[in-house]
Amino acid sequence: MPRNDTRRPRPAWWFPEYAPVGVDLGSPAAVAAYDRNQGTDSAADDALLDRLGVTEGTRLVDLACGTGSLVVQAARRGAEAHGVDVSEEMLKYAQARAERCEVEPHWHQAGFLDYAHPHDAPADVVTTGSALHQLPDFWKQQALRNAAAMLRPGGTFYLRDVIFSFPPEAADTHLGRWIESAGRAEGEGFTRADFEAHVREEFSTYTWIMEGLLERAGFAIVSHDSVSPTHAEYLCRVAK
Ligand SMILES: C[S@@+](CC[C@H](N)C(=O)[O-])C[C@H]1O[C@@H](n2cnc3c(N)ncnc32)[C@H](O)[C@@H]1O
Repeated sequence: MPRNDTRRPRPAWWFPEYAPVGVDLGSPAAVAAYDRNQGTDSAADDALLDRLGVTEGTRLVDLACGTGSLVVQAARRGAEAHGVDVSEEMLKYAQARAERCEVEPHWHQAGFLDYAHPHDAPADVVTTGSALHQLPDFWKQQALRNAAAMLRPGGTFYLRDVIFSFPPEAADTHLGRWIESAGRAEGEGFTRADFEAHVREEFSTYTWIMEGLLERAGFAIVSHDSVSPTHAEYLCRVAK
């Protein structure tokens, strides 16, 4: 698994993107439970890949790929698929999934900020799900600029995450409803305490902030769906 060759050098003021933030997803037990807790679903991954037009030969980079389901499904349809994640445990799990499915995607232990995609092989599609909130907003902007720089002109960027569309004055109500409805019993999924830690310690932001960040990174927003007051997805094209 390539490590140092795909990372940028980092100055002393760089965000510590390899340090865990919020809910612990890096331990072997957390990684083994992740797919069940998150509801990872290869059929949903296939539906997304269809929407994004990923076919044989498409070069796709999934940033913060986690257990690698989307990357493996992309590789199974013949895409040149790259999975990028800071977590060695996640990448080991993802690699084992790929071996079971007899595909060989490219795995990179690297972050949103320091992953350096080769300029002579730009991506057609860059995706990221449930992870950009790990960065504060200043660093989200840097991460989005890095994602835009990986893409060929007209290439596609897809973002799905916890992104708030409720009015700020209704934050208590909406966050309370989300935590109440999403939390599961211990051993059956992410718990109420996990969602509380997400709000307290991670960096989810508002849709209008995200839209400014996307546009300033050089993306044109093609479509946006706030699927709930706490979750949203964006489909973008890089305008180069
Ligand atoms: C909630 S999981 C999402 C995994 C997958 N994208 C999904 O949709 O299921 C968050 C992932 O982000 C990774 N991560 C956290 N900070 C990161 C960073 N700065 N750069 C790349 N990956 C990061 C974690 O290791 C973890 O695998």
